[in-house]
Amino acid sequence: MLQIWDVNWFLDVEQCPCDVHFVEWLEERGIKGKTVFHFGTGGHHHIGLANHAKGTPNDILGITASPKEFDDFVKLAIEHAELSRHYQVLFGDIYLLNPKLLPKIDIATLFHLCEFRGDSQDKYGGLTDAEVVDKTLETMPKGGLVSLFTGSFAGDKATGIAMAAVSAGKLKRLPDYKSLQFYEKV
Ligand SMILES: C[S@@+](CC[C@H](N)C(=O)[O-])C[C@H]1O[C@@H](n2cnc3c(N)ncnc32)[C@H](O)[C@@H]1O
Repeated sequence: MLQIWDVNWFLDVEQCPCDVHFVEWLEERGIKGKTVFHFGTGGHHHIGLANHAKGTPNDILGITASPKEFDDFVKLAIEHAELSRHYQVLFGDIYLLNPKLLPKIDIATLFHLCEFRGDSQDKYGGLTDAEVVDKTLETMPKGGLVSLFTGSFAGDKATGIAMAAVSAGKLKRLPDYKSLQFYEKV
């Protein structure tokens, strides 16, 4: 059985400001025309909806392991006919990430790296967290960006994986923005 996340996460900026900070970062930097892979949409779908509200400057592909959050995406896509042109959501376990099924990605939000890998994913050959980073990098051109969330309960572990990739010459660390870390593919 697939390990699902049986929760519908509502936006809670106090506890989990990563999606809000990411939207602010996109806007402050004037980022346009990029393809964003977003790990962990929440049932609020804030990043996809904010992109829609701002006139779709970017194209967003989210992933959720929550059937309820995925259902909410379907409802939103029906309600807002134009939404799914620039915001799509994959239902699945990120530990099964397959670059062959993904577009070229310019920016990946791996905010919840190391939060959801349990033993149950071994039963179906789930990736490790470090392999999730590697698979994500396979989808990116040089200069692609990976963002992590320092407020995650697994943030130290995720930073350790990213810094190992820095040491291995795969990533370069960039300045942080609010609660977010940024790394560039080299
Ligand atoms: C705590 S919520 C945070 C949602 C949103 N990023 C926010 O900060 O409000 C965690 C998110 O990760 C997703 N998630 C949990 N386990 C996952 C997995 N194995 N693969 C893909 N997404 C997963 C959940 O579906 C949910 O959207």
